[in-house]
This record gives sequence, C-alpha cells and structure tokens, in this order.
Amino acid sequence: MIIADELINWYRNNGRDLPWRHTKDPYIIWLSEIILQQTRVEQGMPYFYRFVESYPNVKAFAEAGEGELLRLWQGLGYYSRVRNMHKAAKMVMSDFECVFPTQYEEVIKLSGVGEYTAAAISSFSINEKKAVLDGNVFRVLSRYFGIDTPINSTSGKKQFLALANEVISDSHPGLYNQAIMDFGATVCKPKAPDCENCVLSLDCVALKNGLVANLPVKIKG
Ligand code: ADE
Repeated sequence: MIIADELINWYRNNGRDLPWRHTKDPYIIWLSEIILQQTRVEQGMPYFYRFVESYPNVKAFAEAGEGELLRLWQGLGYYSRVRNMHKAAKMVMSDFECVFPTQYEEVIKLSGVGEYTAAAISSFSINEKKAVLDGNVFRVLSRYFGIDTPINSTSGKKQFLALANEVISDSHPGLYNQAIMDFGATVCKPKAPDCENCVLSLDCVALKNGLVANLPVKIKG
C-alpha cells in the first residue's frame, strides 16, 4: 500500500481529535497554526479557545488593541508571533477585501506566514496539494525512506520538500498533511518510537537497517 493511503487510514482510526481539525475556516486554521508554532498542543489549546472566543473572525482580530492581544498571548512567548498576526490581520482587511485568503500563493504574502503555515492553511481549507514540512514530517520521511541528508541543510530541505510533494495524497491532501504530522507526533516519535505498532513498519528502511534512532540527521549549527 502506498504511504499516503496507509497514513490516512491510520489517521482515520487513531488521529487525535483536536478542535481546529473541525473547521475549513482559513482564519481559524491560521490562528491554530501560529499558536502551535514552538508550542505543544496541550499548552496551546487553552490559548486557541481564548483567541477564537475573543476574536471570532479576522475583522475582530484586526481591530483589537495591540496591548489586548499581547495580554491574551502572555505565557506563549515569542511575542513577534502575535505582532505579526496583528499585521497579517490588518493586511487581510486592507489588501484582501476583508476575506482571509485560502490559496498558498496568497496566504504566504501575510506577515508571519511561511511555507509550512501556507501549506497547512491552503491544504486544510481548500485541499490545495501543498505538502507541509515540519519536524514530524522530516522524521517520518527520513526514517521510512532511509534518507540521511541533514534536514537543516539547504539541499536537505529541498530534497525533503520535493519528496513530501511526491508522496502527498492526490485525493485528500489536507487529510494526509494532518495524518503525517499526527503520526510523527504520536507513533514515529523522536525518542522511543512505537515501531511495534507502526503501520509503516513493513517497508520502513530505517527499521530494516536498525537506523531508527539515527534518523533524521541534523548538522550542528
Ligand atoms: N502542530 C502544528 N500544527 C498542528 C496541527 N494542525 N495539529 C496538531 N499539532 C500541530
């Protein structure tokens, strides 16, 4: 079975039920993805609820006072994230006719939105076929295909992004992106991965060669 279908199957049966997974609203997806950058799901969850409640749409967010936003963000750190969010929300109001964009090439123009976040928003909201590449995806792909190119090298990033966009599901790219991230977070973990219960174990190159603990490779900076 191909890796994408295997992961989607796994996700349908074992995926975590997280609140931002029930929406196609690009604004809500954006909120969740920015909050979850450098923040664990359990820590980010209460913040996500507070922000959705206080600012149910991008207009409300754009019109919020900076002090109010910073206060609500307190405890999450990396305050540039929320400052960029404010900028982005104002950009939506001024440059996107008050409608939060969904297409990758549009979303990526927003302040604080990089390749990962643009792929997440466009694939989750309109199923655009853009692969997300985060730490989880690097880990799953490097192990499954047995790739030891350093993930933090320029050539490594290129190689993994190309591979990620090759294996992404044609029919369910959004679901697939959620699936591979969840799989990396809960099964193909950095330490003590659950290879005994892994649906990819039969074809996993790293497992076959005893290299699970050595992948992915990172160069010290
Ligand atoms: N971390 C970043 N994005 C996430 C998502 N959509 N679901 C779970 N964890 C995440």
